[in-house]
Formats: sequence, structure tokens, C-alpha cells
Amino acid sequence: MQIVVFSAKPYDRQFLDAANAACGSPHVLTYLEARLSPETAALANGAQAVCAFVNDQADAAVLVDLAGRGIRILALRSAGFNNVDLVAAQRLGITVARVPAYSPESVAEHTVAMMLSLNRHIHRAYARVREGNFALDGLLGFDMHGRTAGIVGTGRIGLAVARILRGFGCRLLAHDPYPAEEGAALGLEYVDVPTLLARSDIVTLHCPLTPATHHMIDAAAIAQMRRGAMLINTSRGAIVDTRAVIAGLKSGAIGLLGLDVYEEEADLFFEDLSGQMLQDDIFARLLTFPNVLVTAHQAFFTTEALTAIAETTIGNITAFAETGQALHAVSTEKLA
Ligand code: NAI
Repeated sequence: MQIVVFSAKPYDRQFLDAANAACGSPHVLTYLEARLSPETAALANGAQAVCAFVNDQADAAVLVDLAGRGIRILALRSAGFNNVDLVAAQRLGITVARVPAYSPESVAEHTVAMMLSLNRHIHRAYARVREGNFALDGLLGFDMHGRTAGIVGTGRIGLAVARILRGFGCRLLAHDPYPAEEGAALGLEYVDVPTLLARSDIVTLHCPLTPATHHMIDAAAIAQMRRGAMLINTSRGAIVDTRAVIAGLKSGAIGLLGLDVYEEEADLFFEDLSGQMLQDDIFARLLTFPNVLVTAHQAFFTTEALTAIAETTIGNITAFAETGQALHAVSTEKLA
């Protein structure tokens, strides 16, 4: 198949080329740095498959354009699919495939790295020591052992986080409309969201972005949290209302904040903007807090995860080419 890969970085090319070379009948891949959008959809002309990532825009207008150009499969290099209008895709006969399970540990380990960095102020200590400042004031942390962590969403990543935190000796609360079978063995206590927020020293988000989870952490939710608690979001930016979180940081309601995702990240993340003026004042405000740690959607970024993403993506397209069905097709039922 002819595949146009949008938002392609050098590392995407490296891992996709390797996976493609290893598959029986290699495809023809064209790599584009451009993000998929109404302006760039025409670049898929002549191809049958489009490969997209988290900030590519696959709304109804873009999908209509792609369908008109003969695109039959949209292969996402991600687990999340909130950027795709699945109803429109189904109507237009475009199969949407994703990578449901690529190293959940990659995201879980980054999540816990953020917890530890924030708790022990590693991001500040690193800069201090290099400046010759060896004072400890302001770097006081807490033992993870015995603390309560609330995990919102106990799918693959949430459970991987639970396994690590269990090793630290944390008490584990969880909320998920579909509690995991493994939950009891891991010592997870399933509770409703208000209870989880009220009892957790650390709240960590691992649910997908859906209409139900959009701005789940808003001013009302923050008011229910333990004062000074840690909030971590490595899931999708818009699960958190950033303005409400900034207010929570200013009042001290939120003590520590770790974000790997941001609701307006599409204009920022994955690019080197160091030579430009930051135009997003909300994001700029976030960066002023010493108790905030932001990474630019890098939780998935491990060798193991990129290998698995590339292999599954090529596998999805190969299966579609051979049978008309992707291995990991997303259906509109998953919207629920
Ligand atoms: P998963 O599908 O295995 O698990 C998601 C869980 O969330 C399911 O158990 C589901 O029942 C639960 N859930 C759904 N609605 C909920 C709600 N209202 N409240 C609480 N739980 C709810 O997905 P997985 O692989 O664990 O990924 C989770 C999310 O992590 C993805 O949707 C994606 O947005 C994000 N992600 C972020 C990455 C990064 O690099 N930062 C990389 C990969 C995924």
C-alpha cells in the first residue's frame, strides 16, 4: 500500500522503516513533517493509507477530503483516538486502526518518574547543585511508602502504575466504570471519584479523553481534593481544566502538578520552539510555578514502545491490505 505518514519525526521514520522492512510485502511510505489538517489533507493524494499521531486532526472535514482522495485506512500511531471523528470515518468507509497496547510500562514508568521528581524536587535540585547551591531548604519531600494514590482509569497503563506503586508500599484507591479483575490482587480499592479525590495524596489520571472525562478535574473536583495533594496527568490534556488547575496552584489546593499532556498542546509539543516567543499565556503561567513539572508528551517515548507502535501500525495496514480488516480497528462503540 501507499502510506502517507503525517507528523513524521526522524524517530518515526527509523522505527517504521525497520518494521516495514521486516514485513513480508513492504509498503511504500512517504514521510511528511506536516500535521494532518484541512490544509494538508491534499498531501495524501494517490495513497490508500494515512498514518497519523496524537495531534493530527482527523475531524469530519478532513476525513471527507481523505475519503475523496481514496484513503481507505487511517492508522493511528497511538492508543488514544480522541482526535478522530469515528462516526464520520464509519460513514465514509474509512477504517480507523490504533495501537491499543504498546508498552503500558513506558507511560507508567514516566508517570512514576514525574511523581518522584515532584515529590523530591529533583528538577529544582538539579539546577541548584549546578549553580553551586547545596542548601536543602524548599526541597522537603515525603515518603511514598504509606501514602494513598488514587488511580483514575485502571486499564493497561493504570494497572501498570498500580503495580509500581504497590512496590513502593502505597495504599491504592481506584476509579473505573469497569473495575479490573486484577484489581483485588493488586490491593486496589475501587471508590467513586469524590471519595478518591478526598482520600488521595496523589491523584493520577489514566482514563481516555471522552465527553464524560473532558475537564473531569475542574474547580469543583479540585475543591474535593486533599489540600496540597499531587496531581499527575499523563493521559490527555483536556481531562484537566488548566485554568482551574492554575487557580488551584495559586491557592495551594494543589501542592504538586505533573503534566505530560496539555489541552492546547497541538500548537506546542513535538516541536523545537526555543527560538520563538511563547504565545500561550496559560501555558506560560504554568511554567512559572516551581512545583509544576511539564514534559512534552514524552511518556510513550521508549525504544520498546516505538518498536511496538511501528510493528502494530505496519501490521494493521498489512492486515487491511490482505483481508480488508485491520487487526486493531476502532469502532464507534468504543466512544461510550
Ligand atoms: P485502556 O483502554 O487500557 O484503559 C483506559 C481505562 O479507563 C479503561 O479501564 C476504562 O474503563 C477507563 N475509563 C473510561 N472512562 C473512565 C472514567 N470516566 N473514569 C475512570 N476511568 C475510565 O487505555 P490505556 O492504554 O491504559 O491508556 C490510557 C490513556 O493514556 C489513553 O487513552 C491515552 O489517552 C493515554 N496515553 C498517553 C500516552 C502518553 O505518551 N502520555 C501514551 C499512551 C496513552
